[in-house]
Amino acid sequence: MESILHLLFLLQFLPLLSSSESYDPQVKYFMNCGSDSNVDLVDLRNFVGDENSNLSFSVGKSNSVRNENPLPGILPLYHTARIYTKISHYMLNITQTGSYLVRLHFFPFSFKKTHLADALFNVSAPNFSLLSNFSVRNSSTEFPVIKEFFLTIAEGNFDIYFIPADETRFAFVNAIEAFLLPPKFFIYDLNATPPLLTIDAALRTLYRINVGGPEVNDTLWRNWVPDNDYLTFGSSEQASCNGEPQESRQRPDFKDIAPDAVYRTCKKVSIYNNGPSNIPNITWRFNVSKEARHLVRVHVCDLVSQSPGTVSFYLNISANFSTVIDPNSDGVSDMSAPLFYDYVVSSDDSGYMSFSIAPNETSITKVAFLNGLEIMEFLGSSTIKMPFENERRKHLALKIGSAGGVALILREVSQFDN
Ligand SMILES: *[C@@H]1O[C@H](CO)[C@@H](O)[C@H](O)[C@H]1NC(C)=O
Ligand SMILES: *[C@@H]1O[C@H](CO)[C@@H](O)[C@H](O)[C@H]1NC(C)=O
Ligand SMILES: *[C@@H]1O[C@H](CO)[C@@H](O)[C@H](O)[C@H]1NC(C)=O
Ligand SMILES: *[C@@H]1O[C@H](CO)[C@@H](O)[C@H](O)[C@H]1NC(C)=O
Ligand SMILES: *[C@@H]1O[C@H](CO)[C@@H](O)[C@H](O)[C@H]1NC(C)=O
Ligand SMILES: *[C@@H]1O[C@H](CO)[C@@H](O)[C@H](O)[C@H]1NC(C)=O
Ligand SMILES: *[C@@H]1O[C@H](CO)[C@@H](O)[C@H](O)[C@H]1NC(C)=O
Ligand SMILES: *[C@@H]1O[C@H](CO)[C@@H](O)[C@H](O)[C@H]1NC(C)=O
Ligand SMILES: *[C@@H]1O[C@H](CO)[C@@H](O)[C@H](O)[C@H]1NC(C)=O
Ligand SMILES: *[C@@H]1O[C@H](CO)[C@@H](O)[C@H](O)[C@H]1NC(C)=O
Ligand SMILES: *[C@@H]1O[C@H](CO)[C@@H](O)[C@H](O)[C@H]1NC(C)=O
Ligand SMILES: *[C@@H]1O[C@H](CO)[C@@H](O)[C@H](O)[C@H]1NC(C)=O
Repeated sequence: MESILHLLFLLQFLPLLSSSESYDPQVKYFMNCGSDSNVDLVDLRNFVGDENSNLSFSVGKSNSVRNENPLPGILPLYHTARIYTKISHYMLNITQTGSYLVRLHFFPFSFKKTHLADALFNVSAPNFSLLSNFSVRNSSTEFPVIKEFFLTIAEGNFDIYFIPADETRFAFVNAIEAFLLPPKFFIYDLNATPPLLTIDAALRTLYRINVGGPEVNDTLWRNWVPDNDYLTFGSSEQASCNGEPQESRQRPDFKDIAPDAVYRTCKKVSIYNNGPSNIPNITWRFNVSKEARHLVRVHVCDLVSQSPGTVSFYLNISANFSTVIDPNSDGVSDMSAPLFYDYVVSSDDSGYMSFSIAPNETSITKVAFLNGLEIMEFLGSSTIKMPFENERRKHLALKIGSAGGVALILREVSQFDN
């Protein structure tokens, strides 16, 4: 992979409806792994206990484990887990080809002398490596660790492979979500060079930021977090801004791209007439994998300028890329229209990616602003050698190594033929 940044952009107009109405996917799986009971979340997700198997899914050769002493306040969804001691796959019957959001939830607990936090494993989809050498210990976030992916899935069986690092280790998962995204969620622009996003590309979410605003959850159950932790230079001119994004006139199917709450707040930096001579900026920095391709989705909504066509500003990504954001570049004179821009950016070998906005010193309104930012990494391909043993054993006893080297016997709770 080249170390220089490759960047393309595509402008999309994105008038929004109020996003209070919830999205109801046509194809959806919300699985409560290792459990025989359903967990209904207040946000309209009903996680089905995956021991109640039916023909639309199978869990692969695995065991159910339960946390007998969960701390108060931990969601029942995380009281159980499914563990894999050998490579196996979780299968979902996908009834419609399309772009899917897939989430894996990990919340370690101890079961007798097994500590799920000791697990070290890979997770793969048929053509992509989802997680490599994954351990919840390596995660910098709090529990649950939720890993989110965007994949194009063809009608038929969709397999998620759990691959323990070696025979003494194991893999686990507490919950799995997979649901069809709204139409036109991604723009597959093959005419761009290099292609913006191809239908067979897959992405992993790294960051989703609500600039200048609070944490929010959206209609796709995605989590947006405040930007403050990622600010490196908030120049002294930096200010928060807020306002009301314009209601949708067209393309209501874009309302799930980002919630109004994201477009309602921003951070801005201005040049004042008597201000300093050098151009101020706001810069955010994010740790990313070295020399990896990313899809960056930038959300802006002009809540700042007084009349249309008076503002344009710079957006620079790391050292080598600069673009100009002009909310009215398409001749559209709407104010406060939610917009997003997609860029494909390769990271360099520094291990981070920085984003700077700076005003255009010659535009009428000398201000730069940002409302939201998403950074997703393109997944690498994977090939899985699946040692298939098509055997069905009813009362299989499995040995699971624990951290202290103590082996214990687990009774297999459910057994599926794969
Ligand atoms: C920026 O581009 C120059 C010239 O193409 C290249 O030498 C340099 O390594 C690039 N810097 C980064 C950080 O990618
Ligand atoms: C089987 O289980 C899945 C997952 O919970 C559910 O979506 C589906 O409706 C069930 N199918 C039948 C026929 O019960
Ligand atoms: C998947 O589900 C569809 C519709 O419920 C059904 O017709 C089809 O046979 C299922 N496929 C498999 C492989 O189970
Ligand atoms: C995996 O990639 C190959 C080659 O690109 C393609 O033919 C196949 O359909 C893909 N498999 C899935 C499950 O997407
Ligand atoms: C994962 O672990 C294997 C074996 O320990 C090692 O060869 C490989 O380089 C590691 N890969 C990553 C991405 O850490
Ligand atoms: C995660 O941590 C384990 C040790 O706990 C290590 O072996 C593994 O390589 C780490 N994986 C990554 C991706 O850093
Ligand atoms: C897990 O993935 C890493 C990196 O892709 C690879 O080196 C390692 O061999 C894989 N481990 C297993 C058990 O397949
Ligand atoms: C968003 O959802 C997460 C988990 O589903 C929850 O912990 C968090 O409190 C929610 N945040 C808001 C602002 O609703
Ligand atoms: C942003 O401004 C600071 C001074 O306020 C400066 O040190 C920094 O180099 C600028 N960043 C960029 C990317 O221009
Ligand atoms: C980013 O990476 C650097 C260097 O590895 C590390 O010191 C820093 O804590 C990381 N920041 C975050 C927010 O993870
Ligand atoms: C952004 O890039 C432009 C053009 O390369 C450059 O003039 C400007 O100084 C850069 N601004 C920041 C904040 O990095
Ligand atoms: C800066 O603003 C001026 C006046 O609107 C405009 O002519 C110029 O193209 C803008 N510069 C950039 C790089 O967009």
